[in-house]
Order: sequence, then structure tokens, then C-alpha cells
Amino acid sequence: MDAKNTAKSAALAVGDKKLDLPVKPGTIGPSVVDIGKLYGQTGMFTYDPGFTSTASCDSKITYIDGDEGVLLYRGYPIEQIAESGDYLETCYLLLYGELPTAAQKADFDFRVNRHTMVHEQMHRFFQGFRRDAHPMAVMVGSVGALSAFYHDSTDISDPTQRMIASIRMIAKMPTLAAMAFKYSIGQPFIYPRNDLDLSSNFLRMCFAVPAEEYKVNPVLSRAMDRIFILHADHEQNASTSTVRLAGSSGANPFACIAAGIACLWGPAHGGANEAALKMLTEIGSVDKIPEFVRRAKDKNDPFRLMGFGHRVYKNYDPRAKIMQKTCHEVLNELGIKDDPLLDVAIELEKVALQDEYFIEKKLYPNIDFYSGITLKAMGFPTTMFTVLFALARTVGWIAQWKEMIEDPGQKIGRPRQLYTGAPRRDYLPISRRK
Ligand code: CMC
Repeated sequence: MDAKNTAKSAALAVGDKKLDLPVKPGTIGPSVVDIGKLYGQTGMFTYDPGFTSTASCDSKITYIDGDEGVLLYRGYPIEQIAESGDYLETCYLLLYGELPTAAQKADFDFRVNRHTMVHEQMHRFFQGFRRDAHPMAVMVGSVGALSAFYHDSTDISDPTQRMIASIRMIAKMPTLAAMAFKYSIGQPFIYPRNDLDLSSNFLRMCFAVPAEEYKVNPVLSRAMDRIFILHADHEQNASTSTVRLAGSSGANPFACIAAGIACLWGPAHGGANEAALKMLTEIGSVDKIPEFVRRAKDKNDPFRLMGFGHRVYKNYDPRAKIMQKTCHEVLNELGIKDDPLLDVAIELEKVALQDEYFIEKKLYPNIDFYSGITLKAMGFPTTMFTVLFALARTVGWIAQWKEMIEDPGQKIGRPRQLYTGAPRRDYLPISRRK
């Protein structure tokens, strides 16, 4: 791959027709060949299942250099934001494009805090779900239902309503996620407390019970906040593209985010942290690692090392490094000295990073490799892992949705296809079919 290609145009010959296709440069990263007029000029489409070489939009929000392992939110390296910022500051940055001043930050925190409660009727809505439902199923349903509860912020042509819907979703996702958790374990919902920061409030809504006072552990709350920052956006991944595609038809933002949550649920995407922890548990001990590594390399075995590999990162996922550090901090704070899962994870990472198969295919640990162990130590069941990812990613989805809606050139998304089915044929009455 020639990542530094600086060509100003691209020539394409289709039969005897020669086309000069315009090239659009980005601020950094690969340029794109604009094929918008290709069909009109040649009667042909391009073909790129899985979008491995296709940019679906232009965006100013997040930049990833997968070869170098770089992730920038609005130009700022993820390492610096995770080290010195907080999640709500990250939300402001992603939504507005700049870091807030102290006054802007105070105002934003206040605006988000004022929206943390959900309509009381949502409590009754929750009662309709089976207790043993996966909390992601509950999230898809309840976030979609927000459009029924907050009808006054579904007019996407009104910038004020767009912003209110955005703030509402950032504020209410932690409340809904905690409710999904409480519902699954049969405990009463805990109302939000607006004197706490977002992550402390979230931990309290998850782990407090009305019968006892709950003291938020600042190390765990900082870890939670960092996990939210790391997951806040990741440019045009499957769930974000789902949100954009759903939003391109003019659907309301709550419905679009529900679509993003549904997409995130899959094990190749947000469900990977749950799958990674299950895998580490299945491996169980360091001596079983060679067997699982062998299986991961076997073409005839569908098993993959969960938490390894990434469509974009062909280097160490920069979020995984921060996640690994956070994992150690949490385990230290909780006095967990010998966690067998952590031992398996550290050894598995070492083995895989030295293995020819993983080196050659550029398969490195991704963020999900260490997040499962961390979240488990914090007291979350595996079924909640993807819910936490959805909570954190909501701001990214919203920022991307807003960017798309506010783009004057925005059109409904409508990919084309290569048809490989039956050619035209005549309908046969059932009596004549064999
Ligand atoms: N273990 C073993 N082999 C793998 C793995 C793995 N985890 N990932 C990829 N490969 C192999 C794959 O078999 C293929 O081999 P070959 O070229 O011989 O057919 C090659 O590497 C390329 O894989 P691919 O599936 O074509 O690559 P992709 O870019 O479509 O897939 C991925 C990316 C993340 C879906 C994949 O690496 C995977 O399934 N990883 C495990 C699941 C996981 O951890 N997902 C979390 C992603 S990070 C969180 C997020 O952003 O959502």
C-alpha cells in the first residue's frame, strides 16, 4: 500500500473510454479518488464489499492511522486526552470541535447533568422486558423508545432540537445502562445524583442500593471515565456507519442511535470484549495457550483469538496500551494480586506477538483484549460490557450524525450492488411447477 500517495488525479480506462477522476486530499491520511460521476460516465459501479477501500463520507471528527497506531479526536492524541481530560470534556470536543474553556465546560456539564433523569414512565416500560433479557436487547429497545418519550427533540431540521436530543442522549445513556443492569439483577433503579461527575454517578447508579450508602471509589471512577474516553469515537466503523445510514433518511436521532446499538452488539464489533473474556475463561490456564493459538491459526477451525486484530489497526491499538495500564490500576486498587485471567491474557499476548502467523497478518491486541478483565474486576457481568461500550460511543455516534445532517451536500445513503441472481424469467403458475 502506498499510504503517501500524493497524486492530484487518477486516470481510469474502462474499455476504450479514458477518465480523469478527481482526487480529494484530506488534512492528513490517504486522499480519495472521487468516483461520484463514474456510473453516469461509464455505466459501471465500483465493487468493494466490506468497504475496505471506500470512504463513505468526509469528516472532521476522528482520525486513525492504523499502520502507525495513531488515534486523534479533533486532532488531539487519545493518549493525551485519556491522561489529562475527562469524558464530558471529550464529549464537548467531539460535538463542538474544540476543547472547552473553563466556563464552557461548566456550562456543558450543567446542561448534561440537568438531563440525567429519564421519564418516569420509562420505569414501567422496562417492566415489559424479561428479567433474563440480554441488557443490549433492553438498550436497543429503550433507546429506540426515547423517541416516543422526547418527541419535542425529534425535528432534525431544527438545530436547537438537534442539540437538545444530543445532550439528552449523552445524559440519559448512563441512566438507561444502569437501569438495564439493575433490572437484570432484580434490584431497584437508583436515581441519578447530579452533584457527582458522570462516571461516579454511573457507578453509583449501578452499584448502590437504597438500603445502604455507597461511596464512590475515585480510582474506579477515574478508570470508568478513561474507558468511556477510549470508546468515545472511532470514525466510520460499522455502528457509526449504521447511525449515519439510518440518519441519512431523516430518521430521528434516538432511532438512529438505537440502530447503532444493534450493530455494535455483534461479536466482531462491540461484542468482542464479552467474547474476549469468555475466551480467556475458556483457556483458563497458561498451559492451555498453545492449543488455542494453534486453533486460531487453523484455517479449518472457525476459532479466532478474540481481542486480536482490527480492520484498521495493523499495529498495536493505541487504546489497548492505555487499557492495559488502566487494567493494572484497577486490579491493584482492588487488591487483586493473582487474577488467573490476567495471567492468561499477559502470556497469550506475549505468545501471539512472537508468533509468525500473527506477525505476518499484523494481528495485535485491540482495546477489547484488556477491557473485559478490567470491567469484570469492577463488578460488571460480561453481558454489560457491550452496554458500557454503547454508552461511551453514544457521543461519537451523535457527533457523526450531527456532522452529516449539518452537511449541505448530504444525501440519503444508497449503496449499489453487483447482481448475481437469476436473469429475467416468466412467472409459472403453481400447477405447472415441477
Ligand atoms: N485470530 C486469528 N486469526 C485472525 C484474527 C484473529 N483474531 N483476526 C484476523 N485473523 C486472520 C483471518 O483469519 C484472515 O486470515 P486469512 O488472510 O488467512 O484469511 C486475516 O487474519 C485477515 O482477517 P479478516 O477477517 O479478513 O480481517 P478484517 O479486517 O475483516 O477483520 C476483525 C477484523 C476485527 C473482525 C478480526 O480481526 C476479528 O475477527 N478479530 C476478533 C474479534 C475482535 O477482537 N473484534 C474487536 C475489534 S476492535 C473493537 C471495535 O472497534 O469494534
